[in-house]
Amino acid sequence: MNKKKKKAFIFSSLAASNHSTKKREEHDFYATEPKATELLLEQEKFNIKILEPACGQGHISEVLASHGYRVISSDLIDRGYGQVRNFFDFSDWDGDIITNPPYREALKFVKHSLNIIKPQRKVAMFLKIQFLESKERRCFFEKCPPKVIYVSSGRLICARNAEFNKYKSSAVCYAWYIWEKGYIGEPIIRWIN
Ligand SMILES: C[S@@+](CC[C@H](N)C(=O)[O-])C[C@H]1O[C@@H](n2cnc3c(N)ncnc32)[C@H](O)[C@@H]1O
Repeated sequence: MNKKKKKAFIFSSLAASNHSTKKREEHDFYATEPKATELLLEQEKFNIKILEPACGQGHISEVLASHGYRVISSDLIDRGYGQVRNFFDFSDWDGDIITNPPYREALKFVKHSLNIIKPQRKVAMFLKIQFLESKERRCFFEKCPPKVIYVSSGRLICARNAEFNKYKSSAVCYAWYIWEKGYIGEPIIRWIN
């Protein structure tokens, strides 16, 4: 393959499903492949009460419920699942929080989650591995380190508008980031999938 073709190939591969060249879905609706939540539950136990505050069409909530958790699901937009509610209107939550938040607001979601839960409760967020980058997030991580980060070695899919049939694979590496309110220490990195 000549240099020009190789460059074109690399860029088209990256564009395959990393969402960078497409207009992002309004309010960031990318449904999480259920396997991602199954993998999380193989690693972590949660409080029986879980809030999924950006539930979309319930792709995470349904897996949690199938494992016996009592899940309250809500989303800013009515997607036919759960309550319609802005997450930032929640002022407290007596349980754990698990979601794949809108990526543009991910840090705000993590901070708000940690503000509204009780000490020792958990926040689990399904996010791109790049969430580890950036100076702003570094400052936050130094004050509030995640306790564990589960990196998915195999690719998992977040499907725009839940149209999983349009994806053969993913160009994005995702991880589950777990915070435990009050945890101070070095984050542990583990690999799943
Ligand atoms: C990346 S999608 C994930 C959906 C679902 N958690 C899943 O994993 O399948 C993010 C969701 O966050 C919702 N959202 C965006 N801003 C929100 C807010 N302020 N409060 C609650 N939900 C919000 C969007 O409507 C969208 O459904």
